[in-house]
Amino acid sequence: QILILDFGSQYTQLIARRVRELNVYCEIHPFHHIPALTPDIKGVILSGSPCSVRDSEAPNPDLTSLLGQIPVLGVCYGAQLMAWQQGGSVEPSRTREYGRAHLASHTVSPLFNGVSEHSQVWMSHGDTITQVPSHFKLIANTETVTVAAFQVDGQQTYGIQFHPEVTHSLEGKTILKNFVVDICGCKQDWTSAAFAESTVQSLKEKLGNDKVVMGLSGGVDSSVAATLIHKAIGQNLYCIFVDNGLLRKNEFEEVLHSYQDLGLNVIGVDAKKEFYAALSGLTDPEAKRKAIGRTFIEIFDAEAHKIQDVKWLGQGTIYPDVIESVSVKGPSVTIKSHHNVGGLPEKMKLKIVEPLNALFKDEVREVGRQINIPTNILNRHPFPGPGLGIRILGDITAEKVQVLQDVDSIFINGLKKHNLYDSVWQAGAILLPVQSVGVMGDERTYENAVALRAVTSVDGMTADWAHLPYEFLADVSNEIINKVKGVNRVVYDISSKPPATIEWE
Ligand code: XMP
Repeated sequence: QILILDFGSQYTQLIARRVRELNVYCEIHPFHHIPALTPDIKGVILSGSPCSVRDSEAPNPDLTSLLGQIPVLGVCYGAQLMAWQQGGSVEPSRTREYGRAHLASHTVSPLFNGVSEHSQVWMSHGDTITQVPSHFKLIANTETVTVAAFQVDGQQTYGIQFHPEVTHSLEGKTILKNFVVDICGCKQDWTSAAFAESTVQSLKEKLGNDKVVMGLSGGVDSSVAATLIHKAIGQNLYCIFVDNGLLRKNEFEEVLHSYQDLGLNVIGVDAKKEFYAALSGLTDPEAKRKAIGRTFIEIFDAEAHKIQDVKWLGQGTIYPDVIESVSVKGPSVTIKSHHNVGGLPEKMKLKIVEPLNALFKDEVREVGRQINIPTNILNRHPFPGPGLGIRILGDITAEKVQVLQDVDSIFINGLKKHNLYDSVWQAGAILLPVQSVGVMGDERTYENAVALRAVTSVDGMTADWAHLPYEFLADVSNEIINKVKGVNRVVYDISSKPPATIEWE
C-alpha cells in the first residue's frame, strides 16, 4: 500500500482517490502520526498544505525515518518541506503560480516516463522553492517555476511543486502511476472484487459466532455494509429498519422487500406514532432533528435488546466520514460522527464493526455492484436521516406528511420516467408553510404551495440547481396540482449551494 501523509491540503483526498483508481490501496495519515514502516508500505506521498514552511507553526515532522528508506513523493508543500528541511530556500513566489502551466522541459526520469514534453500541469502555491540543496537534482521546470520537480541523489525521493492529483494536470495520472507502480513497485491488484472477498474473510475471523445488530436506512452505505457482514456471518446479523413516518411514499415496504430479497434478516419496525408524538408542536429545524435522532435511538435500542447476546453494532460509515483534513494548527485529527446515528454507539455499549470505513462513495457503489446489490438501491439519491421531517417547514403532522409524500412521488417518478433521475444528484419536494390564492374551475382556492428542488453535485458540499427541461417541470407541476388535494401552487428552487443549502431546513 501507499501511505499518504496529510498536511491539511484540500486535495489530500483526491490524491488517495487517484491512487485507488490505479487499483492500489492507500491510507491517509496525519503528518504528526507517521506510522512505523512495515513491508506492506511500498511508498509515501506527502500532501500539500495551506501553510507556508516559513511559518513557525507550520507542520514540520521529522522525515528521516522515511527519506532514503522508501520511495517518497512530495507534492507542493511536501516538496517544499523536504527542500527547506535540508537547507534549500523557499520564498514567497513573485510570479503567478496558480492555475495552468506547461512544463518547459523535463529530463529523463522514471517519474516522467511517457509524459509529453510540454505537459499541462496545475499549480497552486504562494511559496516557491528558490534554491535546492546541492544533492537535489532538478528534473523539470516551467516558464516561471525553475523547480517544478526534483529528485534527491542516491534516493528514490522526488518532489513536485504542481498537483498531479487534479484533473487539470493532464498527465498527472501517468506521473502518479510512474511513482506508485514503477518506482514503489505496488501491484495493481486492489479491486472491488478483491476488497469484497478479503473483507468477508476478515469479518468472518473478527466476528466468529458473535451476533451483530445493525440499523438499515435504505441508503447505499448501510445496504452494502449489511450485505458484506451477512455474507460473513449469515443469520447472526440482525438488521433493524425503522419506519419513522418520514420516509418517501411506499419506501418502507419497497425497501423491506429488497432487503428480504437479498436474504437479510430484517426486522421492520413501524414507529410512525412514536415519531409524530415526539415531533408534535416542534417547529425549529434543529429541535426536530434532535427529536428524530433521539426517538430513533430509543426505538432501535429497545428493538436490539430483544435480541439475546448481541456483541457488535454494524455501521455503514465510509472513509470521508472518518477522515477530515487534519487540523494543521492542532495536534488532533477531527473525526466526524456519522450524523444519522450519532449517540447510538455510546448508548448501546457495543463494539463497532464498520466494513466500509476505508472506502470512498464511488468505491462503495462498485463493491455493491460486485456483490449484486440491485441498482434501485445502488443508484438511489441521498436522502437525509430526518427525511421529510426537514422538508415540511414548520410543525409536522401525519396529514402534511401524506401531502408531501404524494407530491414527492410524482416528482421522483417523473424524473425516472423522463430518464432524468440519474443525471440529478438529489431531488425532492418541500412543503411550504404558505397558502396562496388560486382558481380551480370557477372556485377560488386558498391552499398550500410546494417547492421542488433538484441539484447536481459531486459530494453535496457544493451544488448547482439542476437545469431541468421546462416541459418536464410543466408536466410535473400540472400533475401535482391536479392530483394532490390541498396543493394549488408549485415553485422550482433555483438557488445554488453556497449560499443556499440543499435542504431548506
Ligand atoms: P445541506 O442541506 O446541508 O445538505 O446542503 C447536504 C446533504 O446532507 C443531507 N442532510 C442530512 N443528512 N441528516 C442526514 O443524514 C441530516 O440532518 C441532514 N441534513 C442535510 C442533505 O440531504 C444533502 O444530501
